[in-house]
Amino acid sequence: MDRIHSFCDAEVWEGELPPPREVLLEKVRNVEGLLSLLTDKVDAELMDKAPKLKVVSNCAVGFDNIDIHEATKRGILVGNTPGVLTDTTADFAFTLLMAAARRVVEGDKQVRAGGWKTWGPMILLGQDIHGATLGIIGLGRIGATVARRAKGFGMRLLYYDVVRQKKLEDELGIQYLELERLLAESDFITIHTNLTAETHHLIGAKQFEKMKRTSVLVNTSRGPIIDNMALYEALRNGKIGFAALDVTEPEPLPANHPLLTLDNIIVTPHIASASVVTRTKMGLIAAENLIAGLKGEMPPNPVNPEALKKR
Ligand code: DGY
Repeated sequence: MDRIHSFCDAEVWEGELPPPREVLLEKVRNVEGLLSLLTDKVDAELMDKAPKLKVVSNCAVGFDNIDIHEATKRGILVGNTPGVLTDTTADFAFTLLMAAARRVVEGDKQVRAGGWKTWGPMILLGQDIHGATLGIIGLGRIGATVARRAKGFGMRLLYYDVVRQKKLEDELGIQYLELERLLAESDFITIHTNLTAETHHLIGAKQFEKMKRTSVLVNTSRGPIIDNMALYEALRNGKIGFAALDVTEPEPLPANHPLLTLDNIIVTPHIASASVVTRTKMGLIAAENLIAGLKGEMPPNPVNPEALKKR
């Protein structure tokens, strides 16, 4: 905020919850720049209400909350914060994978509830990570960084993506498979793809049928990539073993959601990039994207550089 205030006047929404839609629509009337969070929907309606808007700086790498097509049409630059959160997010995907495999949350709950009576040879048996097969859906920056961690654990690596990544295949010894085969062969599956019309509910009832009954599904990308109700059925009926989600549909996930009645799931509140250092870097990048856009210059991390030509 210091960096932004040094350059321009700025009104900050201080509420813990996102601004109500009608407030946001009112507040954008005269702004030239908007620093948004992934909880703010920046669509055609908002852009129509903000005729002076030149730049939207999203403090996230994902930008599915913004209608990029509409922004570009209007010459509004959009910036995001890639790169700085790659390692932190990959760390967290691995954290969820390990916590699920070794039943860390169940163990903690049991101890707190006074359920730790003795050491027992059959208590809370989990799955080995070393030597297991990891399927990565989306081998972009974060997916590849998860693969590097998994390699250190001696895992067999598979991936599915819309584009083949030959260089990474050689570097990481990771094998490309069509989605169905990856689902069938993996012990652990982790999702690292963007949310688009094509990836919406990419994992649903049909896909759960293909997975091993012991498989562990991890999602740190966007909630709607998984069909939540199909996941509920799959976990409840033992079609898969466990899920560990940092993102859900909807967000926040209501405390009375059916998924939260199950024991074989961990849900965290969209915190994969939430380290002090990474969130600081994301904020600074978002500020620089905003300032460049206000100056009419190309932001350091543009999502739609072509918007500048539309002016
Ligand atoms: C992102 O940046 O898109 C994450 O979901 C939040 O860090």
